[in-house]
Amino acid sequence: MGEVSISGAKNAALPILVSSLLTDGLCTFSNVPNLKDIESIKLLLSHLGAKIETDGDVVKIDAGNILNHEAPYDLVRKMRASILVLGPLVARLKKARVSLPGGCAIGARPINLHLKALACLGASIELKHGYVEAYADKLEGSEIYLDIATVTGTENIMMTAVLAEGRTVIHNAAREPEIVALSDVLNKMGADIRGAGTSTITIIGVSSLNPVSVSIIPDRIETGTFMIAAALTGGDIKISGCEPGHLEAVIHKLGLTGTIIKIDGKNIRVQGIDDIASVDLKTLPYPGFPTDMQAQFMVLMSVAGGLSLISETVFENRFIHVSELKRMGADITIAGNSAMVKGVKMLSGAPVMATDLRASASLILAGLVARGKTEVNRIYHLDRGYESLEKKFAGLGAAIKRVKE
Ligand code: EPU
Repeated sequence: MGEVSISGAKNAALPILVSSLLTDGLCTFSNVPNLKDIESIKLLLSHLGAKIETDGDVVKIDAGNILNHEAPYDLVRKMRASILVLGPLVARLKKARVSLPGGCAIGARPINLHLKALACLGASIELKHGYVEAYADKLEGSEIYLDIATVTGTENIMMTAVLAEGRTVIHNAAREPEIVALSDVLNKMGADIRGAGTSTITIIGVSSLNPVSVSIIPDRIETGTFMIAAALTGGDIKISGCEPGHLEAVIHKLGLTGTIIKIDGKNIRVQGIDDIASVDLKTLPYPGFPTDMQAQFMVLMSVAGGLSLISETVFENRFIHVSELKRMGADITIAGNSAMVKGVKMLSGAPVMATDLRASASLILAGLVARGKTEVNRIYHLDRGYESLEKKFAGLGAAIKRVKE
């Protein structure tokens, strides 16, 4: 019960902080969430030569002196999104050496489409000793057709094409709000990007970009996670400082469960009900239901009134929370990329752990409604993407505390 305010979006902040590499002056970013992944990207940017100052949620980056073109394995392996520096380094320095990210807990997650697109823009790419080595005497605009609407891939292409000569068109571009946010920032820097938020993005290259001051959009996945928490616990919460327009699929699905949702400008009020209806769900690229909300929604379905079929179509291995939820009494059967969830009356608290950010969040949600104590281990994953999650939940009345860093 009560009110919770939403932090800046991790997945918008990451590419936007990286976009400072494209300018040679002081950029100021506000509403930057205090997260491990943000620390990781700041470490990488400093390693490349950027000067960074942080004061609360304000991060100032001066990338005037980028001398280093190498993103080493040790920094990239901590966070896959480090691959976002590839495009800007090639655009600015005409060369980059970036460690290949490798697989991760939720899928193989290759970067072949990032590399193919960079090659279309004129970069020569080689894979050597676990690194991507890219060189370009000159970058030239091109027609790029993405086989899959990759989010960070689209961002990498945008950040390369802004400084390429001529016109680039990205076909089957990702349409996530974070793409629009990055496009807005790049345009503020002086880029000419049109169509972000649609599947065709056109970029006319410019010769240089200016530093900017911008604020990061609210985190739609954090918002959705709190919405589920209210629905799950029969709570009544006001989520403030969010962007309801970025959550239409989640609001729609949650509405079908019977949960009462009221939108008022940048606030959402969510009131849980006793008898949660089961609904089926399929994750899809935006504007479909986000894969980053699948684990949380599955917890809600675990205590709903009937059967729910949840299909994961974005990542091939994003059910790692299932075995932990089953240990808490959930009735879930996996077949291929689908999970059949049969609602049970009650979950029971247990020690659990997960190896992915959103899976960890789902275990916290499960702990909120489980009978008895739940101990979530490896909360390192949570700290990568949720700012002060336990404090925000405690503020809403949850009995939750961090016992060990
Ligand atoms: N893919 C390829 N080749 C590529 C790129 C992607 O096959 O070159 C495949 C992936 O393996 C995946 C699908 O395309 O099956 C979509 O992946 P995408 O590239 O869109 O994902 P991403 O850019 O690596 C971002 C978010 C993820 C979020 C996904 C999907 C960031 C930093 N990360 O990842 O966020 O799940 O889009 O919406 O923006 C999270 O925050 O917990 C998180 C995992």
